[in-house]
Amino acid sequence: MSSKITIVGAGSVGSTIAYTLAVSGITSEIVMVDINAEKSLGEALDIRQGTPFCSPVSIYAGSYQDAKDSDIVVLTSGVARKPGQTRLDLTQTNVNITKTIIPEIVKYAPNAIYVIVSNPVDILTYQFCKTAGLPEERIIGSGTILDTARLRSRLAEYYNISQQNVHAYVFGEHGDSSFVPWSLGNISNVPIDQYSACLTDQGKIMPEINLDDVENYIRKSGAKIIARKGATFYAVAVSVSHICKSILSGTDTTMTVSSMMHGEYGIEDVCMSMLTIVGRTGIKGKIIAPLTDHEKELMVKSANCLKDVIKQLDI
Ligand code: LAC
Repeated sequence: MSSKITIVGAGSVGSTIAYTLAVSGITSEIVMVDINAEKSLGEALDIRQGTPFCSPVSIYAGSYQDAKDSDIVVLTSGVARKPGQTRLDLTQTNVNITKTIIPEIVKYAPNAIYVIVSNPVDILTYQFCKTAGLPEERIIGSGTILDTARLRSRLAEYYNISQQNVHAYVFGEHGDSSFVPWSLGNISNVPIDQYSACLTDQGKIMPEINLDDVENYIRKSGAKIIARKGATFYAVAVSVSHICKSILSGTDTTMTVSSMMHGEYGIEDVCMSMLTIVGRTGIKGKIIAPLTDHEKELMVKSANCLKDVIKQLDI
């Protein structure tokens, strides 16, 4: 089944998403759009020249009108974080950039599902919901899907077990107010804090895991990688490709992504991540998983952090 994905922004994140989509055979047509046309052309050419070894895919650079009939539009444009910057430091700058993009891209792709990746992703997802004139269910922020992936890979490494066996999530802001609802976390259905004790192979017993350390490791991962290599793009590209694959598969899939809240956990009028069902038409619904009172407080705290920022913005 043919499908078309337009990626707005041919920087390191947008280009790596395009590359990942092409080599994974997730879509049959990829359009790369960037204000720097030479850059998007160079990235498209570089990826295209490897596609003889991939499933059939057409990848090319274009402008907004080439986004026509896209099934999915991925927004990655914006100023990337520099070492020492928080995602929220970029806010008004990237809100202003997104303000110029929204009317242009929506004009040519009014029926697409939009996946917002640019940071601060929860704020830009909210801006898209409020100003694009599209049904909210077709606006998905990558949110904490990346943080959840980081958490699962860290726990799998710690417990020396496949990441497929680790079920744990990051909720809230894709940022410093994110948190792990540990009450939902398990390894093969055994709660994380009971897993070690259940192992027969005593040699595999690890020193008791410090859950706060793990949570902090996840929160700071992006900044630590940026400090080392200047940017992050591989893990976020695989995460966003997973969202696109889930949408195109037509199979409803759960994941932690950012979307408009409508009373879940008592939270309204802000975009943040929780367990969400994503399918062919976008957000199909949410799972209001039972949280402890403390976890509910952390969810509200994260929402208020985001609302405090939104109040100061000219969206
Ligand atoms: C990170 C960026 C994608 O966390 O926000 O790496």
